[in-house]
Amino acid sequence: MSPQSPAPKVLIVGGAGYIGSACAVSLLEAGWTVATYDDLSTGHRQAAQGDLIQGDIRDRGRLEGVLRAGRFDAVMHFAAKSLVGESTRHPLRYYDVNTGGTAALVDAMLSAGIKSLVFSSTCAIYGDPVRLPLDEDHPRAPVSPYGDSKEMVERMLAATRAREGLRVTTLRYFNAAGALPEHGLGESHHPETHLIPLALQAALGQRPPLALFGEDYDTRDGTCVRDYIHVRDLASAHLLAMRRLLEGDPGDAYNVGTGMGTTVREVLQAVERVLGVPVPYEVAPRREGDPPALYAQADKIRGALGWEAHHVDIDDIVRTAAQWARAPRY
Ligand SMILES: NC(=O)c1ccc[n+]([C@@H]2O[C@H](COP(=O)([O-])OP(=O)(O)OC[C@H]3O[C@@H](n4cnc5c(N)ncnc54)[C@H](O)[C@@H]3O)[C@@H](O)[C@H]2O)c1
Repeated sequence: MSPQSPAPKVLIVGGAGYIGSACAVSLLEAGWTVATYDDLSTGHRQAAQGDLIQGDIRDRGRLEGVLRAGRFDAVMHFAAKSLVGESTRHPLRYYDVNTGGTAALVDAMLSAGIKSLVFSSTCAIYGDPVRLPLDEDHPRAPVSPYGDSKEMVERMLAATRAREGLRVTTLRYFNAAGALPEHGLGESHHPETHLIPLALQAALGQRPPLALFGEDYDTRDGTCVRDYIHVRDLASAHLLAMRRLLEGDPGDAYNVGTGMGTTVREVLQAVERVLGVPVPYEVAPRREGDPPALYAQADKIRGALGWEAHHVDIDDIVRTAAQWARAPRY
């Protein structure tokens, strides 16, 4: 992209969801043009940025038509089913949408002559850590069909890049968190399975006490450690990654996390500091497949793309999520 190039036009697939809508806002703020393609299965019409085209990623023909008619330069792909527990009960749904759907999307892109893709992957592709922090070369041994469906996509994209000249960057997110209340955007999953919105809703009396799964892990306070990354910081990673692809870079795979682990109890304490009321909770047994700690080594994306996380303080992340939780727009 030279300074004279016209602003790129990007199709945000899955852009009516939590992370896709936040990323779309960052592109709009950079002066780019976006449209959203989404089946609204877990997303929200009110979250979609630009024109909303309602459709399924498995509908290859429709996607090709949309990509050709809209004269898009690139695609960001967020659409997926992403409930780990559900994936163990209904694995085929996950392989169908996440893996098969991505194959259909990439095929449609290539037919329409579009070669630049940023794909949402996950730290769940690594499985149980054999070392921490998790770097990109950590062995990939997912423990759920969800993680496996994404890992398969990563291999499929690597093969496609080699054969078809696809330029693709895969971003492996850790735990997305926070909101963009100034844009009326936040997290609204049904069912909600993520700790920060659950803790906020419990503290606000919007749901029963939170279940705290396991307090006997070998961590600093006995509860699980995770790496919470603000959606704003995820969005800036997408913008940087896509800019690079549009300049002709072949793309790569990067972790996107802060590198800082926060325990469940520390999250609950942050919620209490922000809201001024304690989070009611009940200790429950450990959940199967929950590793004690997961946090990122994110040096690669810093070095390659110049990315930095700007919201590393858990109170800062919780504060934006709390603004949203008090008055969600959808
Ligand atoms: N939220 C996290 O912490 C996290 C962590 C790691 C990776 N991810 C990945 O990031 C992406 C976005 O996650 P999110 O939290 O915003 O989820 P989300 O459910 O809010 O967004 C997903 C969007 O995709 C759409 N979608 C689902 N199936 C579709 C289909 N078949 N056709 C068209 N659209 C479809 C949904 O309607 C929704 O708008 C997902 O790929 C997820 O696996 C999320």
